[in-house]
Amino acid sequence: LILVLDFGSQYNQLITRRIREFGVYSELHSHKLTAEEIKEMNPKGIILSGGPHSVYDENSFRCDKGIFDLGIPILGICYGMQLMALHFNGTVEKAKNREYGKALIELNHDPILFKDTKAKQTVWMSHGDKVTAAPPSFQIDATSPSTPIAAMSDTESSLYGVQFHPEVRHSEYGNDVLNHFVFDVCQSAGDWSIENFIDMEVRNIQDKVGDRKVLCALSGGVDSSVVAALIHKAIGDQLTCIFVDHGLLRKNEGDDVMEVFAKDFHMNIIKVDAQDRFLSKLAGVDDPEQKRKIIGNEFIYVFDDEAAKLKEIDFLAQGTLYTDVIESGTETAQTIKSHHNVGGLPENMQFELIEPLNTLFKDEVRELGSQLGIPDHIVWRQPFPGPGLAIRILGEVTEDKLKIVRESDAVLREEIAKAGLDRDIWQYFTVLPNIKSVGVMGDARTYDHTIGIRAVTSIDGMTSDWARIPWDVLEKVSTRLVNDVEHINRVVYDITSKPPATIEWE
Ligand code: XMP
Repeated sequence: LILVLDFGSQYNQLITRRIREFGVYSELHSHKLTAEEIKEMNPKGIILSGGPHSVYDENSFRCDKGIFDLGIPILGICYGMQLMALHFNGTVEKAKNREYGKALIELNHDPILFKDTKAKQTVWMSHGDKVTAAPPSFQIDATSPSTPIAAMSDTESSLYGVQFHPEVRHSEYGNDVLNHFVFDVCQSAGDWSIENFIDMEVRNIQDKVGDRKVLCALSGGVDSSVVAALIHKAIGDQLTCIFVDHGLLRKNEGDDVMEVFAKDFHMNIIKVDAQDRFLSKLAGVDDPEQKRKIIGNEFIYVFDDEAAKLKEIDFLAQGTLYTDVIESGTETAQTIKSHHNVGGLPENMQFELIEPLNTLFKDEVRELGSQLGIPDHIVWRQPFPGPGLAIRILGEVTEDKLKIVRESDAVLREEIAKAGLDRDIWQYFTVLPNIKSVGVMGDARTYDHTIGIRAVTSIDGMTSDWARIPWDVLEKVSTRLVNDVEHINRVVYDITSKPPATIEWE
């Protein structure tokens, strides 16, 4: 384990990612961990992350000073290096201006962290304060014109500091620096992989659950599918899944989930056909937030009703990911939309939680899913919102409108797959803006629905750009939408990025 202590930099998750890419397990934890707790975790190395504060700010984040006495190798990055410098009686100076962007550093000798890299190299800087005098036992490893102490080390005590951000790709040899710390300094084995994650987690789940029973809400999305498959591998029939079909799913999605998990995986799945229940609750409602709330609540009621029928369930499995864990609690963002997903389960349930994915990133979850034998079309499924097609119909949701979005979505997906674009475009779907316009078909006037195509590229859904789908593909989609889907006589393409728009229309 390489432990990363979080002092609030926006790049912190990246440090953990990079290290896992080396085949070394790494976790990000609060800077508040005590030296005692860290000793217990027995990491091979500790990384003190960057952060937005100045070490001289009144409420700046500090760590337990005891960690410097544990004898565990430490790498301080940016703010982390400044904390280290202060602790060992170096000097940190408050800056008037921030240094932000690429900088050229020059190595002073042949420092171990920079082994086999170039004497002059580009790094990514993002800092205000800087270390102006290294602590007595440290030597200066690298300098840049504006940052005389760009890297420092006390190799005797295995203490290292870099002012730049090695985890950011713009740092030319950043990966090497992390790699040398992890392997040459910390002597990590580098044998962490998804295969041994499966073995380890299967054993953990078996130990935790014993002969008791686990309940899981399966949505057919990547996370819940992988959780279910992993737990099923560990405890077989002691797992029961509830799959709520709220009638707002994509074409064939419900059958597909049953086919894969009930038939191929032989899981115990209770499928609840609750379309009528949801549609009657949604009748007459056209406010987006209200629609979301109704669906979220109804989901809980349905799940509750089903769970109550089962006896002696002790655990509830959830597909919480590492990003959810890291981000919850620090999120101060304003509510733009009330998100709903199968994670949003009843709070008052008397279950103990099992969250076996809560140390994994999304791409690791996908790899895990593949290794567990989940087919590609589920593992690589594009994100689909919990409230489903309901938020792709502007205004009131009716069965007729559902049919139009569902059929049009299927056509779009088919054409995107045929064009081989399904893994390039992050998300693509159709929306029904609830407007009718005049058209002409054959010799007759039509007055019917407009359908919108939304397709975006994105890394994480937080921001996105509209996808440049080739015109000939768009043309095919447009022709098919008008010909194959009833009640569409016009097709438009949404070319807004997020921000200012959002990906979904509601
Ligand atoms: P927006 O529309 O907010 O969407 O730009 C960002 C990403 O989140 C998905 N989304 C949801 N996912 N429950 C979910 O699990 C929800 O309620 C929800 N609403 C939006 C959306 O599809 C996009 O990928």
